[in-house]
Amino acid sequence: MKTVKTFSELRVARSKLAEPVGLVPTMGYLHEGHLSLARRARQECTSLIATIFINPTQFGPGEDLSTYPRDIPRDLELLEKEGVDLVWIPNAIDMYPLGFQSWVRVSELTQPLEGARRPEHFRGVTTVVTKLFNATMPQKAYFGQKDAQQAAVIRRMVSDLNYHIQIVVCPTVREPDGLAMSSRNTYLDKDERRAAAVLYRALNTAQDAYLKGERDPNILRSLMNAELISEPFARPQYVSCAHPDTLMEHFGRVEDGALLSMAVYIGGTRLIDNILLEE
Ligand code: PAF
Repeated sequence: MKTVKTFSELRVARSKLAEPVGLVPTMGYLHEGHLSLARRARQECTSLIATIFINPTQFGPGEDLSTYPRDIPRDLELLEKEGVDLVWIPNAIDMYPLGFQSWVRVSELTQPLEGARRPEHFRGVTTVVTKLFNATMPQKAYFGQKDAQQAAVIRRMVSDLNYHIQIVVCPTVREPDGLAMSSRNTYLDKDERRAAAVLYRALNTAQDAYLKGERDPNILRSLMNAELISEPFARPQYVSCAHPDTLMEHFGRVEDGALLSMAVYIGGTRLIDNILLEE
């Protein structure tokens, strides 16, 4: 496995890789969720690139950019075990040199849900993912369903900008109690970690009601909220029942494939999770 830092090192290393190339973009501090993306990419592509870059432009003021967990040596060991060929760890100053002023923005899909609470977050994501795509030129790129809105936004961007890149969205990987794996779970203390399982319980409460025939999105949202507020450590920021592609909130009858999602503070840590409703 080769590790590179600069754009020019990347260009040379990339030119030696056999096609098709798969890309797994990450911000590091890898967990089973990331590794499941790498495994899927390893099965489907001849060569595999992973990137590790804590992208400053997708963090808002007061968010956790400075405390975001980091462990590059451990990440490299894990990626090597998954058979990754090339790891790119760019520097922020190379990615955003002095005078940087060109942004990629997806207009409508970035407005609701996460976009409404984290202004400019998706501008940072789409800009950096564009730069990662341009530099690594993959045929396939792998993202997690855990960041459902991010996946929808990137799909839109790839289609709108005519990238010949297939976006593969892989299932959320969960802890035994249902908590979706996330690098941010390390912020939780013991009590908060126990409490954090409430997100998945709330999603399942709505899914169970749907299985029993409930089709009213207001009732599904209320059921999720009620479960969340039954947990003293949890402060829901939003719960949503929306169309999975347009992300527009449902008001009429809900059907299979609807996206149930939420952002919830557990103590000081903001967690997100989602499922797609199924019969
Ligand atoms: O999902 C992430 O880890 C990040 O948003 C991504 C796609 C690597 C862009 O920084």
